[in-house]
Amino acid sequence: MSSENWRTATRLLHDAPNRTEFGETSEAIFLTSGFVYDSAEQAAATFTGDVEHFQYSRFGNPTVDTLQERLALLEGAEACIATSTGMGAVSSALLAHVKTGERVVASRAIFGSCYWIVTSLLPRYGIETELVDGDDYEAWERALSRPTAAVLIESPSNPMLDVLDIQRIADLAHKAGALLMVDNVFASPIGQSPLKLGADVVLYSCTKHIDGQGRVLGGAVLGSDKWIKETLQPFTRNTGNALSPFNAWVLLKGLETLKLRTEAMARNAADVADALAGLPGVVNVRYPGRSDHPQHELAQKQMSNGGSLVAFEVENGKAGAFACLNAFGLIAISNNLGDARSLATHPATTTHMRVGEDERARLGITDGVIRLSVGLEDAADLIADVTAGAAAAHAAK
Ligand SMILES: Cc1ncc(COP(=O)(O)O)c(C=O)c1O
Repeated sequence: MSSENWRTATRLLHDAPNRTEFGETSEAIFLTSGFVYDSAEQAAATFTGDVEHFQYSRFGNPTVDTLQERLALLEGAEACIATSTGMGAVSSALLAHVKTGERVVASRAIFGSCYWIVTSLLPRYGIETELVDGDDYEAWERALSRPTAAVLIESPSNPMLDVLDIQRIADLAHKAGALLMVDNVFASPIGQSPLKLGADVVLYSCTKHIDGQGRVLGGAVLGSDKWIKETLQPFTRNTGNALSPFNAWVLLKGLETLKLRTEAMARNAADVADALAGLPGVVNVRYPGRSDHPQHELAQKQMSNGGSLVAFEVENGKAGAFACLNAFGLIAISNNLGDARSLATHPATTTHMRVGEDERARLGITDGVIRLSVGLEDAADLIADVTAGAAAAHAAK
């Protein structure tokens, strides 16, 4: 069977093997900053591009290349550049593409650091930016009735799990002359394929599900060969947004179990979300896989599962949320997500503290909201833990 017909679970292990002459089973780690040449002529020819040879790990490294190739094949993208972090992926993609005097439109519900880039950093360079409320498609039409260079969205969004119609926004973005960039962190490459829905660029924090075991930071940008080579690569190479070969190797190990982990985490998340919905002390639950999620039908259309994140609101606001988090015995308090271990955070005082009270109110991030990243523990143990948390929230003053 040709490798083109391999299914995802197989591809995660066998795509882009790039084996050396030693025939190693697991990929080699090329932990080297530089490379040597056989002759001065070979060095010169490498720099003119007449000879293919690694030059320097800021430009390219065999272990990082293997990760990039495997991620591109998984996503169905022509090319990929791995970056030092997820924010490195978002900032490089935007800054490489957009020029002074151009315009960026973004969904309002984006991760705190992405929000800072769009609302504070880009305007410093004379780039006009506009935020649009997630599922207000008339507002999307208005915002994209003017020429625009890039549109950035996150779906499902952090932390309230709003699901946006990627195909619809892609069509509007393209009419405005923009590239649609999708931060696909919450869904993971297993749960959603934005390029198939019309997106042009997909962004990952590989720190999340791709590592998924709390070890390393990393990021990735995927898109067309032309855009990656002509627009992004000169930017990342010259600004130094490179992934360490060691981190690339850890991420390759993470990819081997990505499908297994994310699907098991999604099954656990669905069970935990259902349990939370029936608990005293819980005011509401948002999970894209539940029929009471406001965009459940759309989530079913564009995602292959409900994902591993659940947002829920407890009684008694901040006091209730803190009591709930502090009552957890198994679920750890951490602002990371996508990990094998279940992690919970209070967005209003952590990840979304800096977006301000008014913006939080607009996004539905009340003081009682907790974001839960569901891991691989036994669902019954997780349900026992959230039951204790909800009871503590109910009793809080
Ligand atoms: C949706 C989303 N995008 C981007 C990032 C940034 O990733 P990193 O922490 O790897 O820079 C995060 C991190 O929490 C995130 O949740």
